[in-house]
Amino acid sequence: MSKKADIGLIGLAVMGENLVMNMESKGFSVAVYNRTLDKVDAFINGRGKGKNIIGTHSIEELCASLSRPRKVIILVKAGNPVDAYIDSLLKYLDEGDVIIDSGNSNYTDTIRRTKYVEDKGLYYVGMGISGGEEGALKGPSMMPGGSEKAWPLVKPILQAVAAKVDDGTPCCDWVGQDGAGHFVKMVHNGIEYGDMQLIAESYSLMKNLLGMTADEMHKVFSEWNKTELDSYLIGITAEILNKKDDDGLPLVDKILDSAGQKGTGKWTGITALEEGVPLTLISEAVFARCLSSMKNERVEAGKEYRIERKPLECNKNEMVEDIRKALLASKIISYAQGYALLRSAASSYGWKLNYGGIALMWRGGCIIRSTFLGKIKEAFDRNPEITNLLLDPYFKNMMDTLIPSWRRVVSASALSGISIPAFSSALSYFDGYTTETLPANLIQAQRDFFGAHTYERIDAERGRFFHTNWTGEGGTTAATTYSV
Ligand code: 6PG
Repeated sequence: MSKKADIGLIGLAVMGENLVMNMESKGFSVAVYNRTLDKVDAFINGRGKGKNIIGTHSIEELCASLSRPRKVIILVKAGNPVDAYIDSLLKYLDEGDVIIDSGNSNYTDTIRRTKYVEDKGLYYVGMGISGGEEGALKGPSMMPGGSEKAWPLVKPILQAVAAKVDDGTPCCDWVGQDGAGHFVKMVHNGIEYGDMQLIAESYSLMKNLLGMTADEMHKVFSEWNKTELDSYLIGITAEILNKKDDDGLPLVDKILDSAGQKGTGKWTGITALEEGVPLTLISEAVFARCLSSMKNERVEAGKEYRIERKPLECNKNEMVEDIRKALLASKIISYAQGYALLRSAASSYGWKLNYGGIALMWRGGCIIRSTFLGKIKEAFDRNPEITNLLLDPYFKNMMDTLIPSWRRVVSASALSGISIPAFSSALSYFDGYTTETLPANLIQAQRDFFGAHTYERIDAERGRFFHTNWTGEGGTTAATTYSV
């Protein structure tokens, strides 16, 4: 084989194929391999015909077809298949070559794999890609992290194929060491779950509280897409509501209300619990999908309770505007919580995350792309160290205008028996976050009462712990005061 390819790719599923076409269209030659070899031939003789793409039928052949230092993207199902391909590649790659995992891998696996590959003298990049099929083909958002020395080697290709924001900045930049790229992609997916749940709750309120039709809601979401809510997910929601089934009725009404999930939202929630960050909205969005999937149980429980859920007597247009504002307020909470998780993980793992840069990477190409992310970038430009986005002046002013609507929507839904876990937990978080005195004094008293876990006092300096013999029967020995 004379001419060597610029980059290799393993895994010709939908994302892989489209990413190859994208790289080729930007002037890079690509060598491809797939476990089911027929797929390689079908691709080379189909979409890849006449293009600068080399089909290979073994990992050895793939590695031999690449120019040095060799760069290979693995785009396969997360988990064991990634480890298996790394081991196969290590047999044929040399020191200084780069392995890039672009699947939705768990960031802890990426931390482990970076060390494993670096110990063998090669470089490892764990890179989240977002944007689905269309993004992979036309320009996705890409979040690379791992071996820093690999960045100059892969940067020209990755930034060429990534989406660009209006001024031409690519939605792809170096995120940080080892698992940082996959961590940022995981949080992106958690936020994606949150955004989708908030939109679904808005739809449920319009449908069940206001008795609106799919056509009416299509118009509302189209209008919302011209406001601060302008985003990919609001846009596709408007399109979905407009889609008719073969019988002319809205297709959305024919789809079973049982949501699937592939795990990245769940990982975000688990990580938030481990980091001790109140990521309530995203976690509720994951639980809402779990609850939706308990279809048979819900049907049975519904028969038992027979809750009457009837449309509300109200001014429809005013309530629609209240719902829009409640959605925006809750969305601000979701992003504030997501960024708090990024900040906490950065400190735990020693990553120097560029928060404004992350907003810019998400500004185009990815599933959560929106004009809203431009405002987040501006907030971090104003203060790169801000602890919570709710404290940024732009978001503070905006929240002030949204709160009354938000409260009206949450109380109307409670009175009408409509489940809106993301809206209502976001409001509860907001009220907790902005309350000086919470009832945790009572929790501390209870802990001390039954387990001598001690408490701090409001009239003593912080860090000094007290124990009370509440019943007169316990001893004076207190438990240790550690807190996880
Ligand atoms: C993206 C998406 C993508 C994700 C799917 C499925 O950024 O392009 O986040 O990576 O895997 O949307 O996610 P769920 O099956 O968990 O909904």
